[in-house]
Amino acid sequence: MNQPTQHDLPTYLNPDDLGPWGIYLEQVERVTPYLGKLGKWVETLKRPKRILTVDVPVELDNGTIAHFEGYRVQHNMARGPGKGGVRYHQDVTLSEVMALSAWMSVKCAAVNVPFGGAKGGIRINPRNYSQKELERVTRRYISEISLIIGPDQDIPAPDVNTNGQTMAWMMDTYAMKTGHLATGVVTGKPISLGGSLGRVEATGRGVFTVGVEAARELGLDLTGARVVVQGCGNVGGIAALLFHEAGAKVIALQDHTASIYAENGLDVPTILASNNPKVGLVGSNAGEIISADEFWELESDILIPAALENQITANNADRLRTKIVIEGANGPTTPEADDILASKGILVIPDVIANAGGVTVSYFEWAQNFSSYFWEEDVINERLGKMMREAYQATAAVAKQHNVTLRTAAFISACSRILEARELRGLYP
Ligand SMILES: NC(=O)c1ccc[n+]([C@@H]2O[C@H](COP(=O)([O-])OP(=O)(O)OC[C@H]3O[C@@H](n4cnc5c(N)ncnc54)[C@H](O)[C@@H]3O)[C@@H](O)[C@H]2O)c1
Repeated sequence: MNQPTQHDLPTYLNPDDLGPWGIYLEQVERVTPYLGKLGKWVETLKRPKRILTVDVPVELDNGTIAHFEGYRVQHNMARGPGKGGVRYHQDVTLSEVMALSAWMSVKCAAVNVPFGGAKGGIRINPRNYSQKELERVTRRYISEISLIIGPDQDIPAPDVNTNGQTMAWMMDTYAMKTGHLATGVVTGKPISLGGSLGRVEATGRGVFTVGVEAARELGLDLTGARVVVQGCGNVGGIAALLFHEAGAKVIALQDHTASIYAENGLDVPTILASNNPKVGLVGSNAGEIISADEFWELESDILIPAALENQITANNADRLRTKIVIEGANGPTTPEADDILASKGILVIPDVIANAGGVTVSYFEWAQNFSSYFWEEDVINERLGKMMREAYQATAAVAKQHNVTLRTAAFISACSRILEARELRGLYP
């Protein structure tokens, strides 16, 4: 009897609007021809292993009850426990959390840290709630998902609008539920609660490290190189600072309030030191304010999108005038834009490699928590640098071998690692 091997889309997705999950599926399609015999397992990448949707009811400060929708998605755990942040945002959707969880599977495998991919989210605008209300939301959410998380099951971390304080509440709630303290249940914790030195800077440092590798490969001297950065938060801010310190000229910065420009380079340390996120760059009095269109069209050597998804699209990719794009953010470039950038000869260092510094130091934090023995910051930075350089060089070698982009190359290595683990473990029962 002829049995189907391909499966329809899961019923919980809208086939007319797949959202970010659709972008991920397209990336998997692109890599499938390169998976060889492992291709027989590829359907495993196209559906998350486990999705938990939870209701998060909390009492607000005014005595009324509010309900929030929360998710935890475990995409693939063939190589290790799930790993991935929790995002608090009013626009979070299941499709988005699914895509982010899948990109975590790919990212962890691409840099070869022993984790699978997971992600969480709550549909809430945290700016509308007090700290006490956010604490209650966090505690109830963790209580609901505690069925499936744990230091050797699935380890949350911060993402958009969550931070070290959120992780402290998560760790405490898990400890209250289980009756013992397991610091390794979350990463991105404050240092005083078992966090790791170097974790805050890790993603920006990783962005800088792969940028140095790519510049060397293209014969680009970083001294005086023109760098443009979108986002000056945790990732963009640190990356801008490190490029500045290396002698590059950061000629433009953009945040949610404005784009600022200075032909001879912005004074990045002063701008960041005085940056109040509530006021933003618009109130910085630094450089000249330019429009968003002018920002994307600036002539540069390196462009770093480090803010949001969907920033480089078919609408603006054609107008980019840069040599290297380093994706600090997750999913900033659409597949159509990827093709346009490739045709223009612009080298794109994909998010799954470029921003993997964060999860790499999260891995170090988790390993330190198991032994309760903490490493010095220079040891952490040295190990991070080594892993990022090796991941970049291995990806560049695969790209050369198959004559594909770095994104497809990173997916080839990562998906092969995941599917090899799947094959070796076999199907249960
Ligand atoms: N923090 C990490 O360790 C880490 C790790 C991997 C990936 N990422 C990804 O990097 C990106 C940024 O994360 P972060 O931790 O730096 O966040 P953040 O909140 O610290 O900073 C975000 C920055 O983006 C800017 N921004 C927001 N909306 C914007 C808009 N419409 N136009 C221009 N700028 C805008 C903000 O003003 C801010 O400067 C996200 O995609 C996140 O998922 C972060």
